Amino acid sequence: MVKENKRILIADDEEAIVFGLTEMLEEEGYSISSALDGKAALDLLRQEKFALLLADLEMPKYDGMQLLKKIKKEGIETQVIIITGKGTISTAVRAMREGVYDYIEKPIKPIRLKSIIPKALEHYKLRVSHKNLEQQIKHLTHFEDIIGQSQLMLEVYKIIDAVADTTANVMITGESGTGKELVAKAIHRKSSRKNEPFIAVNCSAFPENILENELFGHEKGAFTGALTEKPGCFEMAHKGTLFLDEIGEMAFETQAKILRALEEKRFRRLGGKKEIEVDVRIVAATNRNLNDALKEKKLREDLYYRLCVMEIDLPPLKERLEDIPLLIDEFVLFFNQKNNKKIKGLTQRCMSRLMRYQWPGNVRELKNAIERAVILTTSSKIDLDVIPNRIISSEEPAKMAKPSEIEGDSASMIVIPVGTTMEEVEKKVILRTLEKANQNKTKAARILGISLKTIHNKLGKFDAPKSD
Ligand SMILES: Nc1ncnc2c1ncn2[C@@H]1O[C@H](COP(=O)(O)OP(=O)(O)OP(=O)(O)O)[C@@H](O)[C@H]1O
Ligand SMILES: [Mg+2]
Repeated sequence: MVKENKRILIADDEEAIVFGLTEMLEEEGYSISSALDGKAALDLLRQEKFALLLADLEMPKYDGMQLLKKIKKEGIETQVIIITGKGTISTAVRAMREGVYDYIEKPIKPIRLKSIIPKALEHYKLRVSHKNLEQQIKHLTHFEDIIGQSQLMLEVYKIIDAVADTTANVMITGESGTGKELVAKAIHRKSSRKNEPFIAVNCSAFPENILENELFGHEKGAFTGALTEKPGCFEMAHKGTLFLDEIGEMAFETQAKILRALEEKRFRRLGGKKEIEVDVRIVAATNRNLNDALKEKKLREDLYYRLCVMEIDLPPLKERLEDIPLLIDEFVLFFNQKNNKKIKGLTQRCMSRLMRYQWPGNVRELKNAIERAVILTTSSKIDLDVIPNRIISSEEPAKMAKPSEIEGDSASMIVIPVGTTMEEVEKKVILRTLEKANQNKTKAARILGISLKTIHNKLGKFDAPKSD
């Protein structure tokens, strides 16, 4: 196997040059491929990795500059040295500004070529390792577009990984701004449906009849004003994922129709006779408490069971304080780029204030606060003067992992007499926590600081009744 950083592609329409260069460079230990026009060169670059491209400026199909543009556009990683004839030196100089490593004039002087190639390759190696490093760092802090490395978020990623490539419908719960839509997109992108559509519908954004029209579409003439036929989101999401956002806000009747479409995998457009078959994976989300929504009859139980094959409960930001600095770093970078700024983060005192705030609007609120701060900051670091008062006047430090619902009230207390075995203590604590968490195992696991798998194992051992 030839090492990737020894592979060179020569693109020149003069066969004599290609032949001469190939012989010379092979003798030097490089592995050479060649193309006689720009298009053939691009095809090879798409298929294989080359550390270096030696490209003539004047070639048929794509000339050197056009080839360069395509390489950049497609993000092909290679170092480029341009070969120029007499009349094209000024173009070569221009190419240097576009990121070309160097240029070499015809007739090619072997000594010069032999001296610049190793330097160009060294440069390539550095660039590649820098890129790899960047990717590794990104991998350490991101999961798809989701930022966060707290234990609670790692648990969420595990569930996404496990469920993404199955046919199971997923229900995502969590307070507003915790990233439910990001999670839905991550599930889609990690599934084998990733190249098919991801269609999102915000169920709270439409009155009942308009929502049905959005979901199922209509035939021409279905109602006054239906001048043309219109496919609905179910059809548009065929083979892909349909994200039903704010599902708890949907009318009961519409829920029944969705249930039918899911069970039968077919439906009719409004005013239509023809049954349309669809294959969609549903990911739903709500910021309501599911048990309350069921009790208050906001969510149909049958639909709930159909959708909630897997539940992902996103923790509020105040329960994962360690993610705040990561999120802030990323948002500062993002809004720096957007606003053409070079802000280098936050002052120490500003950071500690942001860590104390409860973030009722979760990540969305944090993102908005950082956007505002980046825009208003004129010095190198964001300080308290650009943070809204409601945030900096918060005195109470947010809690680390334990949600408040378990603390304080007597219903949360357990009396454990001396002499109780540890096994018995564990059982009591787990069952009582489940009770407090309305039998939601994900939530209970979070409160207890153990994984969902552990809670399942323990329950199996206690032989406790199945709850969700
Ligand atoms: N973990 C995260 N990493 C990066 N950005 C995030 C994260 N969580 C949320 N965001 C950002 O915060 C904003 C709100 O996220 P999203 O729309 O997914 O929240 P949501 O839970 O659907 O909120 P709502 O219930 O109000 O619809 C978006 O701009 C999103 O990009
Ligand atoms: Mg949302």
